[in-house]
Amino acid sequence: MACVSFAKHNAPSSSWIGGQQSLPQRSGSSARLATRRVSLPIRAGAYTDELIKTAKTIASPGRGILAIDESNATCGKRLSSIGLDNTEPNRQAYRQLLLTTPGLGEYISGAILFEETLYQSTTDGKKFVDVLHDQKIVPGIKVDKGLVPLPGSNNESWCQGLDGLSSRSAEYYKQGARFAKWRTVVSIPCGPSALAVKEAAWGLARYAAISQDNGLVPIVEPEILLDGDHPIERTLEVAEKVWAEVFYYLAENNVIFEGILLKPSMVTPGAEHKERASPETIAKYTLTMLKRRVPPAVPGIMFLSGGQSEMEATLNLHAMNQSPNPWHVSFSYARALQNTVLKTWQGRPENVEAAQKALLVRAKANSLAQLGKYSAEGESEEAKKGMFVKGYTY
Ligand code: 13P
Repeated sequence: MACVSFAKHNAPSSSWIGGQQSLPQRSGSSARLATRRVSLPIRAGAYTDELIKTAKTIASPGRGILAIDESNATCGKRLSSIGLDNTEPNRQAYRQLLLTTPGLGEYISGAILFEETLYQSTTDGKKFVDVLHDQKIVPGIKVDKGLVPLPGSNNESWCQGLDGLSSRSAEYYKQGARFAKWRTVVSIPCGPSALAVKEAAWGLARYAAISQDNGLVPIVEPEILLDGDHPIERTLEVAEKVWAEVFYYLAENNVIFEGILLKPSMVTPGAEHKERASPETIAKYTLTMLKRRVPPAVPGIMFLSGGQSEMEATLNLHAMNQSPNPWHVSFSYARALQNTVLKTWQGRPENVEAAQKALLVRAKANSLAQLGKYSAEGESEEAKKGMFVKGYTY
């Protein structure tokens, strides 16, 4: 039987062409296929084995990611929705509530934090990263610096943050982060222009290479916004174009596919399209797109929720896990995990326990959906409320 191993290969990336692969040999007159050890070199740095292990841990059965990496400005929007001021103590209290939820690690394998949160502690003085370690949750960090207008495009944007990224990533690793997130967006109503797609893909690939060089598993997130009145076929077409370009540049930048995670939008009709699509249709289009574009070497697909209701996001994930997939198909939700929690908490200490229970309900529902075993029976009215906001900025 052929034995496959990952061999470390330390040639400089620019000269690397993977030339040491040996293929099955024909053995003389019998013409039978004789196989010998096949070595599949991948470009390896100091962290290759660790990156692969981290990515696999995050993509473990029945678990997904809790995204709570809202910038201070966006966290302010969450807090103001329940009448709280956007102060550091209020942000700390909210993140403490989420991260100290008892039993969270059963359903959550990774938590994406904003820089402020990565360096914060509980009110008892325990570092948030240690709280996560105790629950076997991998700490992650948002490393992009947000979106700005892209000159020369059709009112589109590009994502900043490559300057100084290597040294920032090294610091985040020291603080305990083991994966990273970079979110850029593509707008269907704005085109998207070839320039915007190329810029999004190139930026993601540069970020991914820099993250891996510093021991952080990059989450690759070109969010295709829900905005627009287009049909689902148009979303499929744009998503295929975007992911083709992303993988082209990931490969050009010698990114190790076994050590990344993807965070795609689901393929749905535009939010203002006249017809809604069922979870089965969304699953069919999304998986078709992913199977056409994403190599099975990638360990995990961790969807964003993008303004879907909590229940919709869970139902769609469940529909995608009704038959085996080449990758772990799971969640990395922010709004679809936090909505009921915030409404339950209302900033009151006496509501913390109930709010943590609400988080566990959502985390467990999505865990079951990851396993293809979710039932929407008994879901609350709050969980059914859509959260799409036209032109929403994170
Ligand atoms: P939503 O699930 O609210 O879309 O957020 C996911 C996320 O982290 C966006 O980068």
